[in-house]
Amino acid sequence: MNDFLPGLEGVAATKSAISFIDGEKGLLSYRGYPLETLAEHSSFEETTLLLLQGELPTAHELADFTEQLRSNYRIKYHIREMMRHFPATGHPMDMLQTAVSSLGMFYLGNECLTGSDACKDIHYVRNMTVNIIAQMAPLVAMWEHMRQGYDPIEPREDLSVAENLLYMFTGKEPDPLMAKIMDVCLILHAEHTLNASTFSALVAGSTLATPFSVISGAIGTLSGPLHGGANQKVVSMLKKIGSPDNVEQWVDDKLANKKVIWGMGHREYKVKDPRATILHKLVAELVKERGGSLDAMFETAMRLEAVCADRLGHKGVYPNVDFYSGILYSEMGIPEDQFTALFAVARSAGWLAHWREQISNNRIYRPTQIYIGSDVREYKPLAERS
Ligand code: COA
Repeated sequence: MNDFLPGLEGVAATKSAISFIDGEKGLLSYRGYPLETLAEHSSFEETTLLLLQGELPTAHELADFTEQLRSNYRIKYHIREMMRHFPATGHPMDMLQTAVSSLGMFYLGNECLTGSDACKDIHYVRNMTVNIIAQMAPLVAMWEHMRQGYDPIEPREDLSVAENLLYMFTGKEPDPLMAKIMDVCLILHAEHTLNASTFSALVAGSTLATPFSVISGAIGTLSGPLHGGANQKVVSMLKKIGSPDNVEQWVDDKLANKKVIWGMGHREYKVKDPRATILHKLVAELVKERGGSLDAMFETAMRLEAVCADRLGHKGVYPNVDFYSGILYSEMGIPEDQFTALFAVARSAGWLAHWREQISNNRIYRPTQIYIGSDVREYKPLAERS
């Protein structure tokens, strides 16, 4: 088969038992459990174990995993020292990619990744998985203080991933409602079949690269505005639009100039992304509770959703996960350029689940191409070229 399908649309590049999307009905499930059920009843820790192991954990397994995560929140001194030298103007996604890749120099043992069989050293796979997932959120929160010239706030082992993330960002006891919302956001962003960053994780994993290389590659891929970077763009777009009254004109100008509307559209969904539906409800609940500045941005977002449904609905372009998440993060006091890094914190669970699936039945990725360059030709020495 030598057909070229741009963007590999519709091409099956792997078999996976981790998650499932029905893009016509707007359904997403992790290991067979609907996302709505997990968002309501689960926690990020439990969902992560479900993604990694395939089954919901027992109470003992969950307690054990939670304890392992918490005891690995602390970041090595040398990584912290390295971060002190990063430019404060650097983007948090570049910081995260660099820091995760550097962790690979401290955690050795990847010799066990030897071939097409399952990794022989299950401890390596488990320990590296825990190290990476545990340290993503502390790295992101630490950087917030370090780039402002302060010492980072130490992580707390008595807090969940979501609570500790908020605590390390704000230095305050996490508000239970905000911690619950952050936990749901982490669940919603944890996994999403074979998207661009997960595909990059599979390709890197298939070469038997270390999990640190796998995840740093995935972080770089997620950073682009057509993928995870869109959540940062959405809030600045809503601020630029300013008010619901300006939406119609703004959308028409953008479309006339062939520009995309951030947070809209998805390769897999032809209806509203189920994650956007859950986030929309969360914002509505928070508006009821808090009101204030939240109202204006939310009103603008809802008007934008309605106008886009009118102008783009026939193309199957509706809000995706990035459309409402930034409004929630803004309310938590998290700066816009950190939104995509929060996405990466959550998605590390899905990336590592896919990495483990890949190395348990590995074949290196090596697709082909259709060559459209010139035929073999004669080399002209430099002096003879005009
Ligand atoms: N704004 C305006 N038009 C959009 C659009 C958007 N956000 N998303 C898709 N469309 C239009 C395209 O222009 C195209 O129109 P055409 O058929 O008249 O040329 C049609 O819808 C199909 O879009 P296409 O670009 O082929 O879809 P894709 O599957 O290649 O791209 C995205 C998917 C996500 C990259 C795309 O929807 C996009 O750029 N969205 C904005 C960025 C974003 O929010 N990314 C986060 C994704 S979770």
